[in-house]
Amino acid sequence: MDVIKIMRMKGKEKIVMITAYDAPSARIAWEAGVDIILVGDSLGNNVLGYKDTIPVTMEEMLIHVSAVRRGAEEAFIVADMPFLSYQVSESEAIKNAGLFLKCGANAVKLEGGRELAGLIRKLVASGIPVMGHLGLTPQSVNVFGGYKVQGKTEESRKKLIEDAMALEEAGVFSIVLEMVMEEVAREITEKVKIPTIGIGAGRYCDGQVLVWHDVLGLNPEFSPRFVKKYADLYRISLEAVRAYKEEVKEGKFPGVENVFRKK
Ligand code: KIV
Repeated sequence: MDVIKIMRMKGKEKIVMITAYDAPSARIAWEAGVDIILVGDSLGNNVLGYKDTIPVTMEEMLIHVSAVRRGAEEAFIVADMPFLSYQVSESEAIKNAGLFLKCGANAVKLEGGRELAGLIRKLVASGIPVMGHLGLTPQSVNVFGGYKVQGKTEESRKKLIEDAMALEEAGVFSIVLEMVMEEVAREITEKVKIPTIGIGAGRYCDGQVLVWHDVLGLNPEFSPRFVKKYADLYRISLEAVRAYKEEVKEGKFPGVENVFRKK
């Protein structure tokens, strides 16, 4: 997979993206045949135990991008640029984006609209493919005042469309639309020539992305409308660890088949 192939999928084949944060999950995503693995900064709330994505650092992201690359050598990997890794200065942003490519990512993702157009042009000119991210951008949760669906008012609809067109013009190869009203996501998808990848943005985007832990049911308390749980790994894992604990307590594990001894 490469950016050209991803762009050519628009209108022909739905694009499937999923997050992954470590080598074993990357391997499963690759074997399952997903088109893009996103090492999202949702690493913060899904793996590192933070309450949101704001505390996630470049150092943490680089460790996880490298792990994902080791788990899926051939996959197309997008690395999420964490909060403050691209907002302070363009030179710092280019350096940080470059570090992701050096540790195995194929592209980076940035949250924001037209205000990022200049930076995106420079990144692309430096050889760094960029995925945009509009709608509910979790790094701005403190500005939005919560995780709210975007595109409900005429003003918000117009802004989203203009931002999407500005990102396309700046050179992104695709745009994530997060928690956007379905009609607005559809309008954006029809207006831009690059693929849109939705999460909580309805049925008409060119592709879909979901978070690993949500697909597999690893976050029992989190079940928003836009998520579909394809498994209940929280329950399965809990039962397995409980069974292990009980067998050790009862002296059933290790059994004779688990030990090294002379015949
Ligand atoms: O960090 C993340 O997982 C994301 C997706 C929700 C698109 O940005």
